[in-house]
Amino acid sequence: MVTLVFLGAPGAGKGTQAQILKERYNFLHISTGDILRAEKEKNTELSKRIREIMEKGELVPDEIVVQVLKENIKDLDAKNGIIFDGFPRTVRQAEMLEEMLKEKNLILDKVFFFEVSKDKVIERLSKRLICKNCGKIYHLKNMPPKVDGICDDCGGELIQREDDKEEVVENRWKNYLEQTKPLIDFYSKKGILVRINADLEKEETFREIREILNLK
Ligand code: AP5
Ligand code: MG
Repeated sequence: MVTLVFLGAPGAGKGTQAQILKERYNFLHISTGDILRAEKEKNTELSKRIREIMEKGELVPDEIVVQVLKENIKDLDAKNGIIFDGFPRTVRQAEMLEEMLKEKNLILDKVFFFEVSKDKVIERLSKRLICKNCGKIYHLKNMPPKVDGICDDCGGELIQREDDKEEVVENRWKNYLEQTKPLIDFYSKKGILVRINADLEKEETFREIREILNLK
């Protein structure tokens, strides 16, 4: 079993590649973005706070992310591999992940850094759709659903993410540069960083990942 982190800018394709590993190789996909999006729909003080932060494209405080994450993961060793998608996003979170994994007798094997240009990010996020029901990711042009507005897998309604508005994307990009990019150095020094070309077509990027993981 292999434990991975997918690190990269908003819209780099982390969720899309994680979905492929989940569908074809039975990996466990843990996305803090998905978990927090579900959490913010609840009717609690905490969910209200999370909603306000996410709508602005800011990062949710480290302690809250880890608390919500721990509540949502149970059997980490049940699959061929685990992908943490969009977590950690700060050096503090990286340290917290190390502690979490240690408690479960796991180590972090590799951190895939998705290298992507800002132009691609803008184009991808402006046309992204997600399934309101199962979270599956689409793109109006690059990965359209078979039937307009309907999820291929579950028949759910396809919607635009609230934080994909242009001004919010700018803020997410800024926060990524300031708070998340330092992790590249952090993981390079540990010798587990692997750079992936995320500017390519979906299947080409996946081929790079597959070869590194030695998957058939
Ligand atoms: P999160 O949901 O993690 O968003 P993100 O990191 O900004 O990344 P995205 O999900 O937008 O992009 P992605 O890389 O997954 O791209 P995707 O595959 O969808 O986080 C959202 C918010 O939650 C944060 O802003 C923050 O507030 C909070 N949060 C989450 N985690 C947190 C943490 N750890 N700490 C603090 N706060 C946290 O692809 C994008 C589009 O491009 C899609 O339309 C897709 O179809 C298309 N596409 C993908 N790959 C390709 C390709 N190769 N070619 C063409 N099109 C492609
Ligand atoms: Mg994502």
